[in-house]
Amino acid sequence: MFKVRKAVFPVAGLGTRFLPATKTVPKEMLPIVDRPLIQYAVDEAIEAGCDTLVFVTNRYKHAVADYFDKAYELEQKLEKSGKTELLAMIRDVLPADVRAVFVTQAEALGLGHAVMCAEPVVGNEPFAVLLPDDLIWNNRLGSTGRGALGQMVDIAHRDRSSVIAVQDVPREQTGSYGIVDVNGVTDNPADIRGMVEKPHPEVAPSTRAVVGRYVLSPRIFELLHQTRPGKGGEIQLTDAIAALLGEERVQAYEFEGRRFDCGSRVGLVEATIQFALDHDDLAGPVRAYLEQALAEPRR
Ligand code: UTP
Repeated sequence: MFKVRKAVFPVAGLGTRFLPATKTVPKEMLPIVDRPLIQYAVDEAIEAGCDTLVFVTNRYKHAVADYFDKAYELEQKLEKSGKTELLAMIRDVLPADVRAVFVTQAEALGLGHAVMCAEPVVGNEPFAVLLPDDLIWNNRLGSTGRGALGQMVDIAHRDRSSVIAVQDVPREQTGSYGIVDVNGVTDNPADIRGMVEKPHPEVAPSTRAVVGRYVLSPRIFELLHQTRPGKGGEIQLTDAIAALLGEERVQAYEFEGRRFDCGSRVGLVEATIQFALDHDDLAGPVRAYLEQALAEPRR
């Protein structure tokens, strides 16, 4: 059985690329139009069938827990003034049958370490990891209609294997990603036989880059415990996955949908434009503004 019910959201990073905003606002709470980044990832996990959401936070990130908590005063006010649509919107940030669990990562010792902090809640079952700053837009999905994680969960269930999301990137960008080496180069999903962290374009085994969605076997926890700190003194999830490959089947899957790297400023701006163009009430004015702005001479 490879049924995935639990989703881990590592949100304890420092978010230095968005300073000074992230001095007080966690990166995951930055909005794309009217919803924070974390909400998009949570919705994707719920759509994929997860009912337990594990947030790995740090002591500065109360905003994330507050967001998923009940907002009594606000709810009362909206109820009194009959604003039922808004009321439903703030109540629906988490459906009633989904539970949120918060665990703390005392020190930012890396993504692998953050995932390890979720072990007591996840236990001995397969689970998902979603990095909310990778926003995957799938409103115009053609055939499956599933979000990226949903597509992966289906494959994991069918093949009883771990599945890692990958995306083809231009060769000159391999140095910014974990890159997988696969058996059948045209297969999708494809069995992974090796992984290299941030290889130089000339030595990269492929151009398939790991992005922030994983379905992992619980064996990863034991391997994380054995993983020594790597680059920058951090415990890397990639190193533990590389060890997992030696023991179990792990597949790379190129998902349907478009990914925005909202951990970078340009990605956040691109996502904002895309999502605004996708909103019925915003599309017209935003398109008109963009046309006008683009017609102005460059400074
Ligand atoms: P990033 O590499 O994007 O780091 O982490 P960061 O600290 O969030 O952002 P920058 O680079 O300083 O701007 C990838 C993911 O792993 C989580 C982050 O919250 C993010 O979702 N993470 C990273 C942790 O939860 N703990 C860590 O110790 C490191």
